[in-house]
Amino acid sequence: MIQVKRTEHPKAKPDFARLGFGKYFTDHMFVMRCQDGKSWQDPEVVPEGPLSLDPATMVFHYAQCIFEGLKAYKDEKGQISLFRPRDNFARLNRSCERMCIPKFDEELAMEGLMTLLKTDADWIPTAPGTALYIRPTVIATDPFLGVKASRSYLFYIILSPVGAYYEHGLEPVKIYVEDTYVRAAVGGTGDIKCGANYAVSLKAGEIAKEQGFDQVLWLDAKTRKNVEEVGSMNIFFVFGDEVVTPNLTGSILPGITRDSVIKLCREEGRKVSERPVSVDELTAAAEEGRLTECFGSGTAAVISPVGGLHYAGRDFVIGGGRMGPVTQHLYDRLTGIQTRRLPDPLGWVTEVR
Ligand code: COI
Repeated sequence: MIQVKRTEHPKAKPDFARLGFGKYFTDHMFVMRCQDGKSWQDPEVVPEGPLSLDPATMVFHYAQCIFEGLKAYKDEKGQISLFRPRDNFARLNRSCERMCIPKFDEELAMEGLMTLLKTDADWIPTAPGTALYIRPTVIATDPFLGVKASRSYLFYIILSPVGAYYEHGLEPVKIYVEDTYVRAAVGGTGDIKCGANYAVSLKAGEIAKEQGFDQVLWLDAKTRKNVEEVGSMNIFFVFGDEVVTPNLTGSILPGITRDSVIKLCREEGRKVSERPVSVDELTAAAEEGRLTECFGSGTAAVISPVGGLHYAGRDFVIGGGRMGPVTQHLYDRLTGIQTRRLPDPLGWVTEVR
């Protein structure tokens, strides 16, 4: 049984018709602490608010910080549900392992999340395209400047009612294929979810933005030839009737939405492949009209159409710059399952009880 300390100062709710992404936070958060480098103690739900940390706290210096992103939905009867939450906690534990953070009990985290969701249930938006975004996070909290793994950690889960991740909603985004900077190399941390992966992506993102692009498509660090992922989502290409995504090389995030798209395509009898995709193959296919669609997948991004790529000074338009039928279908099917408007044949939805 997780203890709940209710806030005495409930916040004013934002306008649920204008949420944007990641700007508002609910009244409560789930926390637990590790003090000995081994075990997690004192799980509880407390008021959401600022943390008080010494400036020497290790996370500020050496980036021992990992996180997850998942979503909760509420149907018209008020039933709250989660999409594949145990996969997120399993991945968070893989991130713990890689970043020398003690692993946690995934069922305890699930119980903490469910308690938190029931406490803040009236923050879950229900309009199409909205959800409650859930951000489990773990940070190193020792105040110490030597380089080593911290002994103490804070695990917290915060909640944010959200709309679309991209400002223009489901408008296709334009993507800059980055061939100077790299996001991750095999043997690094590209296949886990740590804050540092996002920090190193910012420079290329800023340059791309200055040139009018929404996001960066990363190439592999070794050859700068094979496409890997977009910083906030995995990437899929549609070549006629074949749906293709880069295979997990060790430097790509194994996205849960990515996995869901692959499994949905298989279940529908579509041809779907995980294989290396070179930027040369992509640009040739785009020029010849064989690259019919491109979309990104992620918890925040859901399924986001990509209407154009820019590589080596040239622009390549995909699908006339519009959202194609395969992308639209996968968006409808996935969000239909997530919000329980459609059946859940693969057993992905967990009800909050
Ligand atoms: C998510 O999709 O949940 C992510 O963590 C991506 C983040 C950059 C918003």
